[in-house]
Amino acid sequence: MEWISSSPDETRRLGRKLAEDLKPQDVIALTGEIGSGKTTFVQGIAEGLGVPSGRVASPSFVLIREYHGGRIPLYHADLYRLNALPEAQTLGLEEYFEQGGVTVIEWADRLPDLLPLEHLEIRFEVVDPERRSLRVMPLGSRYEGRAHEAPGD
Ligand SMILES: Nc1ncnc2c1ncn2[C@@H]1O[C@H](COP(=O)(O)OP(=O)(O)O)[C@@H](O)[C@H]1O
Ligand SMILES: [Mg+2]
Repeated sequence: MEWISSSPDETRRLGRKLAEDLKPQDVIALTGEIGSGKTTFVQGIAEGLGVPSGRVASPSFVLIREYHGGRIPLYHADLYRLNALPEAQTLGLEEYFEQGGVTVIEWADRLPDLLPLEHLEIRFEVVDPERRSLRVMPLGSRYEGRAHEAPGD
């Protein structure tokens, strides 16, 4: 499944759409270069889950940030600065998978061994300055059918 987004708003809308089908203990792995839209997409997921206002930003100086108050909790991780973190700080990530929320991980390919075998992978690519390609790949039957063909609003 491939989605093409033509604006940041559209990328957020795709995130909101995905959020409709999210369940506790889902794990979503986001990959793609800087500026490819990962954080923008997570903002849409947060909106879709009903996380109260306060924009989601990349958790640059902490590995993971929790957002409560929505339909289910959102755990947002960003592994970009992984190399700068003491290893012990990365160990806690797995514990989130067992909690009652959804874990969304930017730069998930930096810790591939940490991911549960079943997860939803979304690969972001910059097509041109305005457009992004999002390729949605369900790994495991748990995630089959999560990505809709024509995500409208
Ligand atoms: N279609 C699009 N979707 C998402 N972001 C876009 C799009 N077109 C342009 N942009 C810009 O690209 C940047 C994406 O930033 P961000 O979501 O933080 O990416 P990442 O988390 O992958 O580094 C923003 O500056 C945004 O305005
Ligand atoms: Mg980001």
